[in-house]
Amino acid sequence: MRGHSFSFSFIFFIFLFFIPFSFSTPKPELVKPKPIGSYHQRKQPVSAILVFGDSTVDPGNNNYVDTIFKCNFPPYGLDFKNSIPTGRFCNGRLVTDFIGSYIGVKENVPAYLDPNLGITELMSGVSFASAGSGFDPLTPTIGNVIDIPTQLEYFRQYKRQLEDKIGKQKMEKHIEEAVFCVSAGTNDFVINYFTIPTRRETFSIEAYQQFVISNLKQFIQGLWNEGARKITVAGLPPIGCLPIVITLFSSETLTNRRCIDRFSTVAVNYNFYLQKELDLMQMNLAHIGSKIFYLDAYNPFYEIIHDHQKYGFEEVSSGCCGSGYLEASVLCNPKSYVCPNTSAYVFFDSIHPSEKAYFILFETLRPTIDSILSYF
Ligand SMILES: *[C@@H]1O[C@H](CO)[C@@H](O)[C@H](O)[C@H]1NC(C)=O
Repeated sequence: MRGHSFSFSFIFFIFLFFIPFSFSTPKPELVKPKPIGSYHQRKQPVSAILVFGDSTVDPGNNNYVDTIFKCNFPPYGLDFKNSIPTGRFCNGRLVTDFIGSYIGVKENVPAYLDPNLGITELMSGVSFASAGSGFDPLTPTIGNVIDIPTQLEYFRQYKRQLEDKIGKQKMEKHIEEAVFCVSAGTNDFVINYFTIPTRRETFSIEAYQQFVISNLKQFIQGLWNEGARKITVAGLPPIGCLPIVITLFSSETLTNRRCIDRFSTVAVNYNFYLQKELDLMQMNLAHIGSKIFYLDAYNPFYEIIHDHQKYGFEEVSSGCCGSGYLEASVLCNPKSYVCPNTSAYVFFDSIHPSEKAYFILFETLRPTIDSILSYF
């Protein structure tokens, strides 16, 4: 039953090992970024935003799950409205929040598991995502988080809730007009394949990439079967540039914090195959009015990191929280040092981008969002 306890202990061991890095210092005064307005430029009827995946798009579902992959405590959320630590792995809003504003459905996308959501909030969109999740069924077991099939099951439950309120026909139209966002995959490689030995024993990296993509395709097919028609799927970021990856896998962790190319190359190849597969799916389904879009997270982040001065970033290889080298989740906590200016950091913790980096990524995705909304 607990066949994965080794991997869990291993990750936890890494956490504990690096706790001494999390020196506790007085919290400096924090600078708020400029408020970000909503755009409301929709050209097509859009009913809702519905989100699936991992911490890149989890607004706090893990608050309701028995896992250590949580962040509903400061300094997370320090640039969020009223500085609320919602459970977003960020100092502020996520890309899906910006997309929700942009398509005019809601300002922030709430967590589906939040028991306080009313029907209006449910109708305009929720996220089913869970930090630590991934497409490989082994990945979510490492942190005991919500796996992708369960996220799909929650979506079915969500549809029944809507059907009870507005009837089957209206519910189906509502789902057809919703924008779907799927974002996961980093954990399959970073906390699973490269960190614990299980998958490496049976899969070459090429075979593992194909394995992850085939699980992803199965999930997209599942969404499609449930009525999803406008689906966006994010690729992997340059994973060799994540501060935690540099810390764990660089031969000179402290002196040379350059991106590790052999990790980013894995993301490049994965994205190449993913894009091809999504194009194929789109070709097969286009005649029934579907749009399946690949969202490029790689090139925008690569550009932000390598040309950081252009965007006003000063620090690209360590996070704002703690030492910036290893802290994420419980290791980035109320006792951690927090950098004085989150806008100068590409990463808020050792894995997750800052709100400013997410906003720049969102801006680069806008043309794709536009083409979804004007297509039909
Ligand atoms: C914070 O950093 C941003 C980006 O580097 C810069 O534009 C801004 O002036 C900084 N704010 C303060 C108070 O230092």
